[in-house]
Amino acid sequence: MTDQPRKLRSAQWFGTADKNGFMYRSWMKNQGIPDHEFEGKPIIGICNTFSELTPCNAHFRKLAEHVKRGVYEAGGFPVEFPVFSNGESNLRPTAMFTRNLASMDVEESIRGNPLDAVVLLAGCDKTTPALLMGAASCDVPAILVTGGPMLNGKHHGRDIGSGTVVWQLSEQVKAGKISIHEFMSAEAGMSRSAGTCNTMGTASTMACMAEALGVTLPHNAAIPAVDARRYVLAHLSGMRIVEMALQDLRLSKLLTREAFENAIRANAAIGGSTNAAIHLKAIAGRIGVDLSLDDWTRIGRGTPTVVDLQPSGRFLMEEFYYAGGLPAVLRRLGEAGLLPHPDALTANGKSLWDNVKEAPNYNDEVIRPLDKPLVADGGLCVLRGNLAPNGAVLKPSAATPALLKHRGRAVVFENFDDYKKRIADPDLDVTADSVLVMKNCGPKGYPGMAEVGNMGLPPKLLAQGVTDMVRVSDARMSGTAYGTVVLHVAPEARAGGPLAVVRNGDWIELDCDAGRLHVDIDEKEMVARLAEWKEAQTLNPKDASGYRNLYVEHVLQADEGCDFDFLVGCRGAEVPSHSH
Ligand code: FES
Repeated sequence: MTDQPRKLRSAQWFGTADKNGFMYRSWMKNQGIPDHEFEGKPIIGICNTFSELTPCNAHFRKLAEHVKRGVYEAGGFPVEFPVFSNGESNLRPTAMFTRNLASMDVEESIRGNPLDAVVLLAGCDKTTPALLMGAASCDVPAILVTGGPMLNGKHHGRDIGSGTVVWQLSEQVKAGKISIHEFMSAEAGMSRSAGTCNTMGTASTMACMAEALGVTLPHNAAIPAVDARRYVLAHLSGMRIVEMALQDLRLSKLLTREAFENAIRANAAIGGSTNAAIHLKAIAGRIGVDLSLDDWTRIGRGTPTVVDLQPSGRFLMEEFYYAGGLPAVLRRLGEAGLLPHPDALTANGKSLWDNVKEAPNYNDEVIRPLDKPLVADGGLCVLRGNLAPNGAVLKPSAATPALLKHRGRAVVFENFDDYKKRIADPDLDVTADSVLVMKNCGPKGYPGMAEVGNMGLPPKLLAQGVTDMVRVSDARMSGTAYGTVVLHVAPEARAGGPLAVVRNGDWIELDCDAGRLHVDIDEKEMVARLAEWKEAQTLNPKDASGYRNLYVEHVLQADEGCDFDFLVGCRGAEVPSHSH
């Protein structure tokens, strides 16, 4: 062994013929690794969120094997390592509670180990942003491979979408339209293959965001999990990351402000999840790009939503892939001059436009022409006013158009438990014109900011045929959900935002076109109520210790990405050498 000739990071561990090099190599050799793997090959980490408790990522062992084949073929040495896998469906109180924790695991695993580059294997909602956040804080060469969506759900001869059908059928049960038996019979048909939610929920949205950001190979977002082409893409990503390691093509060269602006425009075109506003902000914060909610208004609003997928539209991710996937959408945007930065660099070394300029569209029903959009004025609607001084969001493509300008009396729930206790009360003083308001479900109030903002409607109104109402909260909403739902109110109630002092009967005004969310009380009254609220505050004993204490003390508000204040920023991959 001679001194490492190349400037690979892993040479700090394996590249010296001395006591330290001996020790680093020797322990690795207990896995049956021959000498030549340590002789200047790029060491490629495969950061794997496999877990049988994260069903959406449960097929990742196979995915990792295909990445390894590609890494070996290109002359690299793959080493797979696990990181915390926060699956959406099982984890309580909500997977968002551990997104930042997972990102810390990723960051320190990458920085502390002899890695030259990483392939990030993610899929379920929070795993994708967590891995990108952690890797961005290290700024190493990285490429993302997501697990791909499940095949279309099937029930009684029709297609059903992950999550979305649960909201639809459960409302029908409450309205007495179908039996609980019929509801339960949809369970196995909804999730019938490996993969992530097959609607344009948060997982599919974040996979599209990653592709638009340029940190995946083209078509990564939509290839179904069980399609052999998903494994080809994993193999090719394994090959490509070796080149990226040798070229030092780090995330900071891909995750530029221009890339985020492309992603925001793409989110509007796909009718993406509201959660993207939080996750993109958090990822941007880790790489030093200053995004704000106003960027979503400036870049996203007015963009036609052309992807006709549930929950906003009709189809599912399988059809999206067969129709041409995200490249077909980006081509449509680009040809109309709606791709803000076509020259943005992507992981394969080409510009975003070079990747998509000849992308075919095989189905105008699924990826619609810009002049026949699903929603003409798509994009997230950012709202401000005395009820949300730092902003709130609403997804117009998933809302009832007639409710986008609305004035109604507040029916207030102090928290999610209060909502559950009273929503079915036949004596609840509520009409179809009321505005349902829920407090204390924000980042600090319901640590993790649960996806409960799409409060189910009062059963007595459902029975009358009411299908949507304006709802306002500091919570998030599942990307698979829908309705005229104002989310992410900031500051949240628990942090002393005005939402904390809204009372039953207050008049609330929503005006999406004007970007306004207002509670009709004067400033003097607001100040008096806030002072009274402050006086009454006590520490929730559950917040006093453990990870929950760290979370509540340090989590930022929704408009700031809900990262921990001490994690924002890029800390690079340098690590002090240590002598054995
Ligand atoms: Fe994992 Fe939807 S629950 S992707």
